[in-house]
Parts: sequence; structure tokens; C-alpha cells
Amino acid sequence: MSNDFMNLSKIKLKDYSSIFLKNNPFPMTLVPSNTPVFTADRSKERKHYEQKLAQLINNNGGSITILKGYYGSGKSHLLYAIKNYVNQNLFNYDNGVLSVYIRTPGNTILNFYQEFISDIAREQLELFAKRILSSYIDNNKKISKFIFDKKMTDPKKDLNENTSKFMEGVMKRDMFDDVLNTYFKELKNNDVLYGLFYLLVPSSSAYAWKWFLGAKLSRSELSTMQLNGNITNGREAYTVFEDLVYILNHIGVKHLVLLIDEFEKLTLLSKNIRETYQDEFRHLIDDFASKILITFAITPYHWTQLIREDNALIRRLSEYELELDYFKKSEMIELIEQYLKHYRTENFKNLEPSNYKDNLYPFSDESLDIMYDASKGASNRILRTCRESIEYIIDKNQNVVTADVMKDVLRVNNNDLPI
Ligand SMILES: Nc1ncnc2c1ncn2[C@@H]1O[C@H](COP(=O)(O)OP(=O)(O)O)[C@@H](O)[C@H]1O
Ligand SMILES: [Mg+2]
Repeated sequence: MSNDFMNLSKIKLKDYSSIFLKNNPFPMTLVPSNTPVFTADRSKERKHYEQKLAQLINNNGGSITILKGYYGSGKSHLLYAIKNYVNQNLFNYDNGVLSVYIRTPGNTILNFYQEFISDIAREQLELFAKRILSSYIDNNKKISKFIFDKKMTDPKKDLNENTSKFMEGVMKRDMFDDVLNTYFKELKNNDVLYGLFYLLVPSSSAYAWKWFLGAKLSRSELSTMQLNGNITNGREAYTVFEDLVYILNHIGVKHLVLLIDEFEKLTLLSKNIRETYQDEFRHLIDDFASKILITFAITPYHWTQLIREDNALIRRLSEYELELDYFKKSEMIELIEQYLKHYRTENFKNLEPSNYKDNLYPFSDESLDIMYDASKGASNRILRTCRESIEYIIDKNQNVVTADVMKDVLRVNNNDLPI
């Protein structure tokens, strides 16, 4: 009797080397990765955002985009690609642009704020705090007044290389107050600046981060940082948002790119809550018109639902629609090529080109025709069909996705993904 509880060969990693792939290139879940490896096509959208970014940076011209696209058309993917591009290329501290991805709007502007903070992330806020203190040290003779550790000869170096030592050696509160009075008198809520600094103090860093996230700190937790109160509602969250934008501006981050995904979630809210929220967005747009490039991603179906309600926000937004199109045939081909290329084994390029005609191997031309017709160019359907075709031939020890294979895959697949 076999004592094998399960069959190991069914568990072991599948081997795709017979079709010159390291793995199945097509994503298992249709949730895009935070850092897309590549973005196929989207030339219309690229041009749109190039122009809007140029306008933002050169003319202080903020703008709004309603990014419309059915489920799986690539909205989130595009937002991630924009975010990463901006933060890698335009986020320096001199006339910089910070891009923030808002996963979902939630129910109120408080939720928006929380998404905003968590996407910026703790490490980045800490860098902002260090940046403020560095420039304070550079520009301010008074710093020595606040240092009681006589061995600290190079406070800026300590701040950047050994932050906890720096914080132990200074009179924190007095120094923070002086920074506030020197540069940030106009803050509406001084806790924002103190909170940033307390992120750098090891014993309170976790609390400061919780405070930013809008978690409820106890009186005693607040008092260790001498903060006045928690962020408990939309109005307070909005003030913190305003203050952060003000602080960012001071350290050279002059503009924001806000990418708000799943805007259709608004349609699930009750009318009252939705109207309040839309009003808050309208204020945000008005208050930061010159500073913010804002995108709301939404499905076309839900967009038509929203615009039925005639209100100030929607009227304002409706001029700025950008529709994410279905992929054309050539774009689908590029998409597939890109995914395949990423997972090719080394020996693929040494092969006789005549054997494996092109970069689309193992897909035959006929199979791609059939897939295009069935998917209508919807990226989620294309990717899923590709993934299943690859699994299909590996499981059956075949090495080409023929027309018949494709038909079989599509029969099982049903094309039941929503468009
Ligand atoms: N231009 C593209 N290049 C590469 N992959 C894409 C592209 N557009 C979408 N995808 C992929 O298609 C899938 C569905 O896209 P997604 O952004 O989640 O759609 P949506 O947010 O509109 O529902 C994801 O796996 C995503 O990575
Ligand atoms: Mg999405």
C-alpha cells in the first residue's frame, strides 16, 4: 500500500521550459501589480498625461480627468504606471511632483485622507520630516541652543545617519516649536508638524504613524507627543491634508498627482452621504486648482449613473472624460508579446528563427485571431485566455496553441468575465 498522502508530482512546480518559458507569464489574478513591469500601448493616454503634467509643472495648471473603462480594461494598471512614472521621474524636491494612488474613495473624505496617507507611507513621511529638520539646521544658527549632547558636533549628519541619537541629544519640544515658528506659522493644525517629527523619535514613532492614519490614540499616548487630539472626522482630515500640502510645498514638492481608483463605489453610497462626499471633492478641486492633477477612474456604466444626478461636482467633471479603449488587434499582440518576453528562457533566442517564427510562440496566428474575436479586445479576457491556453498545452504535453486548442479553452472559459 502506498503511504503517499498526496501525489508530489501534482504539487511540484510546473515546468514550462518545453515552450521556452520560465513560468506562465499571464497573471493568475487580474489584480495588477503595484509596480507594473510594462504597459502595453496606451499611446492616447500617455499623450494625455504628458500634456497635463507639462501644464501642471510649467503653468501651475491643475486638471481633472475622468478615466472611463469597463472592468478589466486596465484602469488600475494605468494608474499604477502613472504613479510610478511620476514618482521616479518628477519627484525631486525642486519643483517636484508627488503622485498618490487612492485605492478606493470609501465613504467620506476621512477615508480618502486615510488612503492618501497610507499610500504615501510611513518611510516617505519620515523622509519629509528629516528634510525639514535638515534645512532648519542648515539655515538656522539657533540650533546649538537646543542641543544638550555636547558630543554632537555634526547634528545634520546625526539626524540623517543616526536619527535616534540625534533625537536623544536635543531638546525636542523646544526645537520643534522653533521650527514651527520659523517656517510654519500658517499651519491650521500644528499637530501635523509635530506628528511628522515624532515619527523620527523611536519611542513614539508608531503612535505618530497611527495618529496620521486616523487611529484613535488615548489621551496619554497623545500627551507623550503633546498632540492636541485625534483625527476623527472628515473636517479634521481635510485640515491635515491641507497642512500636509502646505508642508510639502515648503520642502519643494509643489504639485500632487492624485489617482483615485474605483470611483464607481460612490454609486453604492446613500444619496445623502454621496452628496456630502461629492461636495467635499468639489472643495478639494477648488482649493487646489493650481496644484493638483486629479484622476477619477470609473466604469462607463457607473459614470452614466452618476451624471444623471445633476450636481456641482459632476457638472464640473463631465468635461474631462478620457475613455480607455478596448485593445485593437495589434495592441493585443503587443500585450501578449510583452508578457511572453518577460518570461522567456535564455535558450529561446538561440533557436532557429524558422522553427519558432516569432515572439508570439507558442501562440499560432489562427489562435490569436480566434482569441481576439472572442475577447473583443478586453484586457482581462485576453490575459485570462492566454493563461489558460498555456496551462492547457503544458498539461497535455503539447507545444503549440493551435486554433483547436484555443476553441477548446474558450469553450471551458465561457467568457464570463464582465465587460
Ligand atoms: N496596458 C497594459 N499593459 C499590460 N497589462 C495590462 C495593461 N492594461 C491592463 N493590464 C492587465 O490587465 C489586468 C486587468 O487590468 P486592471 O488594471 O485591473 O483593470 P481595471 O482596473 O480597469 O478593472 C491586470 O492584470 C493588468 O495588469
Ligand atoms: Mg481596477
